[in-house]
Amino acid sequence: MVEHLVLVRREPPIAVVTLNRPKALNALSIAMKRALEDEVEALDRDDAVRAIVITGSERAFAAGADIAEMAEMSAVDMLKRDAERSWQRLRAVRKPLIAAVRGYALGGGCELAMLCDMIVAGESAQFGQPEVMIGLIPGAGGTQFLTRALGKWRAMELVLTGRRVDAGLMDALGLLTRVVADDGVLLEAERLAQEVAAMPPLAVQLGKEAVQRAFLGTLDEGLALERKNFYLLFASADRTEGMRSFLEKRQPRWSGK
Ligand code: CAA
Repeated sequence: MVEHLVLVRREPPIAVVTLNRPKALNALSIAMKRALEDEVEALDRDDAVRAIVITGSERAFAAGADIAEMAEMSAVDMLKRDAERSWQRLRAVRKPLIAAVRGYALGGGCELAMLCDMIVAGESAQFGQPEVMIGLIPGAGGTQFLTRALGKWRAMELVLTGRRVDAGLMDALGLLTRVVADDGVLLEAERLAQEVAAMPPLAVQLGKEAVQRAFLGTLDEGLALERKNFYLLFASADRTEGMRSFLEKRQPRWSGK
């Protein structure tokens, strides 16, 4: 029997993608990572799907890159593997990604959660960048995203000690969208996905692009993109409908145009 590394539950307007190597705590093997990218890209192209939840198992969202696979790799092997290109495939997804995190989100698993646009975590979820403990540093954006989210001093602590942080502290530091009871994580992430999926898709797509830009370039570039997208939405039917329905005190009907 073929063991699926990633499971997809498609229930338009949302879809749930589950990492499925529970025994290895969802360590991100090359094959599982590729399956994740393929499935999420397919859902990004699927017009009926408007928001995507990514989740793992009860014990682990993902415990990082697969150390067994990396142990014998040289710098040249890693360069050729070009993991950055594969992370870029996920960063380029235009639909909102919502991480539903239970258990460990460590190393590449923490970076995968941060790559998502919102993070719903269970009370006992644990986050961290433990790479330093195996002689590495984060390799999928951890040093940059953590620093921008937490500031230099907290980020340094996580990157230089590898210590794990619980969901309560991550929430207090502003890195999570919500913390809920462990058994309510998926339900809450799906509820959030439904809420976003009910919004006009063009405004969601361009809003995501503009918020993402805050992490990428300079403030000036981010502000310029935000302004451009803001003006562009005035050309959309959904913007007209949104404003009219508000003034007419009725529910909007989104056409996606
Ligand atoms: N890679 C490969 N296998 C892993 C793994 C990983 N990142 N994390 C866990 N596993 C495997 C374990 O080897 C073990 O396999 P076996 O049952 O075959 O022995 C199984 O998952 C269960 O793990 P443990 O027995 O270790 O479970 P635990 O409850 O005692 O500890 C843990 C849990 C604290 C998460 C521990 O497994 C751990 O520290 N894992 C490694 C975390 C880590 O260092 N992640 C960073 C990886 S590097 C990276 O991610 C680079 C990047 O930025 C892209």
